[in-house]
Amino acid sequence: MAPIIQAEALTKHFEGMVALNALDFSVNEGEIVGLIGPNGSGKSTVVNLLTGVLAPTSGRVLIDGKDFSGTAPHLIAMHGVVRTFQMIRLFASLTVEQNIVLALQEQSGPGYVSSFLNRRNARAWREQATSQARDMLALFEMEKHATKLATDLSIGQQRMVELARGLATSPRIFILDEPAAGLSPINVDRLIEMIRRMRDDFRVTVLLVEHVMRVVQSVCDRVVVLDYGQKIADGMPDHVVRDPKVIEAYIGLGRASHA
Ligand SMILES: Nc1ncnc2c1ncn2[C@@H]1O[C@H](COP(=O)(O)OP(=O)(O)OP(=O)(O)O)[C@@H](O)[C@H]1O
Ligand SMILES: [Mg+2]
Repeated sequence: MAPIIQAEALTKHFEGMVALNALDFSVNEGEIVGLIGPNGSGKSTVVNLLTGVLAPTSGRVLIDGKDFSGTAPHLIAMHGVVRTFQMIRLFASLTVEQNIVLALQEQSGPGYVSSFLNRRNARAWREQATSQARDMLALFEMEKHATKLATDLSIGQQRMVELARGLATSPRIFILDEPAAGLSPINVDRLIEMIRRMRDDFRVTVLLVEHVMRVVQSVCDRVVVLDYGQKIADGMPDHVVRDPKVIEAYIGLGRASHA
């Protein structure tokens, strides 16, 4: 399988601090790849570099083999690279449904603006987008919350809306930054099922940043492990969790404990 996204010697410094050091890895079409590591090991930095939120200090981000290093987030999103945020980012003043319609609107870009010049087109577009948003919410068993304000939902429900919103934009690769954070065990089970469905029913490739090992071990084909901004393992989940270097990174003597 061809890689959709690749990091080549990807490096990020923050004021002299090395957050990510010469990371090489790729995610192939159809894979569910986990990205794990202790707190502060550089996982979200990788996500920010892959999605154009941050520009690399050095190294490259390739999408379909082409160099996208430092490209603006909306241009990367237009290539089907879609993400969720570790800190949930829903628009507080919009309903759940409106949050999804807005994402569809942003994705359709200039086409939407020109259709807006014609009121009838705008109405037809909005009806179609709303029905698409409802379908996606139904898939996540969230349709009964469609007209509530996003901030009136629990954290677990807001995470489901974020997933529904991302999936509604038909990503090729969906990058999830700690989707299980704040979820109850039952919602973690649902999340596991939904990540599988993203790949199996929606043909979406997934890069999953996650601390909850139950999720990683249930869904990932392959796991990449970071420690202090360096890749220390890349392999099958069962193999990686038994790797002494990985165990040392998580429980290493003399280190701060990593939740
Ligand atoms: N914008 C920034 N400015 C300065 N330092 C940053 C910035 N973003 C991240 N860092 C630092 O870079 C390192 C890696 O952070 P990052 O957020 O990528 O870790 P993480 O693996 O996602 O951690 P967590 O599991 O806690 O989410 C940390 O030391 C962090 O403090
Ligand atoms: Mg993070």
